[in-house]
Amino acid sequence: MSDIWIFGYGSLIWRPDFPHAEARPASIDGWARRFWQGSTDHRGVPGSPGRVVTLVEKPGSTCHGRAYRVGADARDAVIAGLDHREKGGYALRDVDILFEAGRAPVRGVVYIATPGNPNWLGRADMAEIAAQVAAAAGPSGSNAEYVLRLADAIRSMGAEDPHVFAVAGRLEPARLSAS
Ligand code: SIN
Repeated sequence: MSDIWIFGYGSLIWRPDFPHAEARPASIDGWARRFWQGSTDHRGVPGSPGRVVTLVEKPGSTCHGRAYRVGADARDAVIAGLDHREKGGYALRDVDILFEAGRAPVRGVVYIATPGNPNWLGRADMAEIAAQVAAAAGPSGSNAEYVLRLADAIRSMGAEDPHVFAVAGRLEPARLSAS
């Protein structure tokens, strides 16, 4: 068995709680990050789900995140742990991961929640997404913390994501007034 690259674009960017040999800013083409997945086990509860990110296919779009190389010896245990962490609707699929524009991609895996999974919420306008995020919390903490940490992590990599920044921007005033 060989090493495996895992691409993270949500909480896996800022909270990789698994052993890895290497972590690098990376991107995948043809995918956009959206707060269209419900969370009833981490950032919300049944009956009051939070909104967490998934990826939707969007030709011409690039999603910036972080890729982790997991050694062959740890691979099965790490994937089993992530399968459990991402069990609220995400499934593993293969993806081409880019480290630098113009360079050949490496093959890796990513967790994506697709329409039809039990926690799928789908499209909503920014005000509705931000209001739902502001109201939700679950065993892993508040939904607002998830959004703001994600926005901070994307910014700290020097990357952009207008969808994430728009939701975070609607939550920022609450963060400022709480500090
Ligand atoms: C990911 O981070 O790659 C998956 C979504 C999440 O756990 O927030």
